[in-house]
Amino acid sequence: MTDLHTAHDQQGGQEPAWDFEAMYQGREVAFGADDRRTDLIPWQLDAPQPLVVELEAAGEITGPVLECGCGLGDNALFLAGRGHEVTAFDAAPSAIERSRAKAVAAGSPVTFMVADATDLHASGVPGGFRTVVDSAMLHCLDADQRRAYLAGLRQVCAPGARLHVLCFRGELAAHLKMPAATDERSLREALRDDWTIRRMESRHYTTGLTHQAWQKLAPAVSGASEQDDLVAVDENGRVLLPFWQITAELT
Ligand SMILES: C[S@@+](CC[C@H](N)C(=O)[O-])C[C@H]1O[C@@H](n2cnc3c(N)ncnc32)[C@H](O)[C@@H]1O
Repeated sequence: MTDLHTAHDQQGGQEPAWDFEAMYQGREVAFGADDRRTDLIPWQLDAPQPLVVELEAAGEITGPVLECGCGLGDNALFLAGRGHEVTAFDAAPSAIERSRAKAVAAGSPVTFMVADATDLHASGVPGGFRTVVDSAMLHCLDADQRRAYLAGLRQVCAPGARLHVLCFRGELAAHLKMPAATDERSLREALRDDWTIRRMESRHYTTGLTHQAWQKLAPAVSGASEQDDLVAVDENGRVLLPFWQITAELT
């Protein structure tokens, strides 16, 4: 299994770039531009991601569903609540522990497991999935990890399975360090071998951050233009970030 911590240690420093396990343990970690520190979990909504709700309402989710990098489990719990059979995994044990506790409290049948997206087989992820949901995990992987992940999904998916990805747009690189490029061409190339892209649209991913918290966490890095302030805010004061919404079918 890939060591999530060293895999993301792009800076070669003492602390990993994105230490998800520490974040889920509630510790303050370096995140965002210039290694600013935070104890916030920017994607924590305590509710499903609105784009996932939209996909489900549009009939674009068919079980059995695999959620990759499920974080605090709210998407998986929502999808199970809509009657889908759901397996959800994350590499951070504390995320899975917290998700399982929510499932028990809600009486939800979601199977939560600790697994590494870059080695699904060794992680014991079962097979036969007809829909895969990846909400903000793909962009956490570097180019080699993306290749291993996207090829590995083939082994656990049913023929013709559908993959829904929500992924940072490249412009966010002016605010946040990323392990690999998230421009349209790089993402199309990453998917090309195993997946046929049916949709690639610019959308907004809802975070749990206020505008003030976002500005503290991720001010435009020096040299970036004023126009790099791409952030919108929803009616609840939550920051919306520019994301790709990609839907692909197993080739
Ligand atoms: C930005 S968070 C998104 C969480 C959740 N999907 C959401 O949208 O709220 C990315 C998640 O991917 C997980 N992750 C990153 N690399 C991973 C890997 N190689 N295998 C499994 N999970 C991974 C992290 O632990 C983290 O929970």
